[in-house]
Amino acid sequence: MNTQEIMQIALEMAGLKEIPGDSRIYVPGENIRRVLFGIDIGVAELWVAKQLGYDCVIAHHPPGGAFGFLEVLHWHVDQMVAYGVPREVAEAAYREIAEPWAARQHSANYDHVASFARLLEMPLLNVHAPCDLVGRRIMEEAVFSRLRPDSTVQDVVDALLTLPEFQRAPTRPEVRVGRPENPAGRVVIAHGNGSNGGYPVAKAYFDHGVNTVCYLHLDPAHAARLQREGKGNVVVMGHMAGDMVGINPFLRRLREAGLEVTGVSGAADLGIF
Ligand SMILES: [Fe+2]
Ligand SMILES: [Fe+2]
Repeated sequence: MNTQEIMQIALEMAGLKEIPGDSRIYVPGENIRRVLFGIDIGVAELWVAKQLGYDCVIAHHPPGGAFGFLEVLHWHVDQMVAYGVPREVAEAAYREIAEPWAARQHSANYDHVASFARLLEMPLLNVHAPCDLVGRRIMEEAVFSRLRPDSTVQDVVDALLTLPEFQRAPTRPEVRVGRPENPAGRVVIAHGNGSNGGYPVAKAYFDHGVNTVCYLHLDPAHAARLQREGKGNVVVMGHMAGDMVGINPFLRRLREAGLEVTGVSGAADLGIF
């Protein structure tokens, strides 16, 4: 198998036609049999892979700033609009969250990890949004199939806990804004859009009929501001566990295709199902 075929498997699983801006083949490779997969990959991890005889490294998070990242972050707008947020409000929320990302991207040493992969002649790719979109679908199925008109926010947490990744993780989905006993109301799984939408996206949802927003994680300052305003609930699902919900099916498919896959960096301690 080659790196393009590996990427293609992820795209097909997510229903994407093109490689999204937060995912990329940095160093292409052919005849791949042994894969090292980590949520975060740096230069040290590439060297470990080389030493241990792997012939490809796959990261989840973009190693060193993906220049198409904002394109994926903008998917928040589509999800908000699908939930009834007016497009101009959604775009304004996006602009607010995009600003710090754009600044970080501009200052990042974007080629650092990739340059070492080239030097080591180690095939390297990262698969981010495709896995997260698969994860969102699984979380939606787990939550929406169990939601009743009188469900509480705690019921949303309990529905997420039916997924093995959340059961096994030392982090548990928790109610970061609002209260567990509040009615869940309309729920959105705001995941698979590059990163969470922070205060601006949650506020846009709360102002337009959504009562409970589920993120993988949320900056404490953003959570405090939402808590002060008291308009809705935020469930934080847990970053590594939440990422693994979408990564595990991908790793399973790679194994079914005949690859030997070792999970590290968040993909090891939660197990591969
Ligand atoms: Fe992710
Ligand atoms: Fe992540």
